[in-house]
Amino acid sequence: MNPSDSPKQQHPRSIKSFVLRQGHMTPAQQRAIDENWPRFGLDFQTAPLDLNTAFGRAAPKILEIGFGMGAATAEIARRLPEKDFLAIDVHGPGVGNLCKLIAEQGIANIRVMRHDAVEVVETMLAEGSLAGIHIFFPDPWHKKRHHKRRLIQPPFVAKLLPKLQSGGYIHLATDWEEYAAQMLDVLNSFPELQNTAENYAPTPAYRPETKFEARGKRLGHGVWDLVFTKR
Ligand SMILES: C[S@@+](CC[C@H](N)C(=O)[O-])C[C@H]1O[C@@H](n2cnc3c(N)ncnc32)[C@H](O)[C@@H]1O
Repeated sequence: MNPSDSPKQQHPRSIKSFVLRQGHMTPAQQRAIDENWPRFGLDFQTAPLDLNTAFGRAAPKILEIGFGMGAATAEIARRLPEKDFLAIDVHGPGVGNLCKLIAEQGIANIRVMRHDAVEVVETMLAEGSLAGIHIFFPDPWHKKRHHKRRLIQPPFVAKLLPKLQSGGYIHLATDWEEYAAQMLDVLNSFPELQNTAENYAPTPAYRPETKFEARGKRLGHGVWDLVFTKR
C-alpha cells in the first residue's frame, strides 16, 4: 500500500483535551438549543469572527473554555453586564443547559459555541480580540500517561496569548494541586505575563463556585486560582 493511502497519514490524530461523553440531553435542553441557537449560538467557521458583530456591541470580550453545565458562566455574565462572554464547550447537555439558562434569565452578553476550543482559538479569534480568558477546572487528567491531554501546556498557551490584548488577563482555577503547580510553571514561563499575586491568587469576586469545584471540595480537594495579566 502506498503510504500516502494510510488513514493515519491522511488524518493525523491530534491529542484532544477531552473525551466526548455521551451524556443525556434533556428535552428542555434540546428545546433551548433549537429555539435559541440563531440568537446566541455560534457555529464553528474557518475564518476569523468579528466578535463585536457577534454580540451586537463593542464591549470587552472574555473567552471561557470548558463551561461544563454553564451555571457559573451565567452567574458571571449577570455579575459583569458590561462584558461579553464567548463560552465554549464540547459537551452537548452542558451546551443545552447554558442555552436554557440564558433564555430563562434573559442574559444578553453570552454567545455559546459547541466545538473544540483549541480549534476555535487557532482559526476564529483575531489577535488582540480578547480582554480576558477564563479556564475553570479544566479536566485534570490525573494519570501521568494522560498529562499530554491537559489544556494548560506551553504550546496551547502560546497560541492563546496573542489573542489577548495588552492589559488583558488570564484566569485559571483547579482543584488538583499538582496541576495547579504545572499551571503556575507554564504561565510563569511566558515573559509577557505578569502574576497578579505572589503565586496563587485570591478567588476574584466575580467567580462563583463552579459545579466541578463543589465536587472537588466534597472529595476534600483544595482550590487554586491563578490570575495573570498581559504586559
Ligand atoms: C472538568 S469540566 C469543568 C467544567 C466547569 N468549568 C466547572 O468548573 O464546573 C471541564 C470541561 O471542559 C470541557 N473541555 C475540555 N476540553 C475542551 C476543549 N478543547 N474545548 C472545549 N471544551 C473543552 C469539557 O467538555 C468539560 O465540560
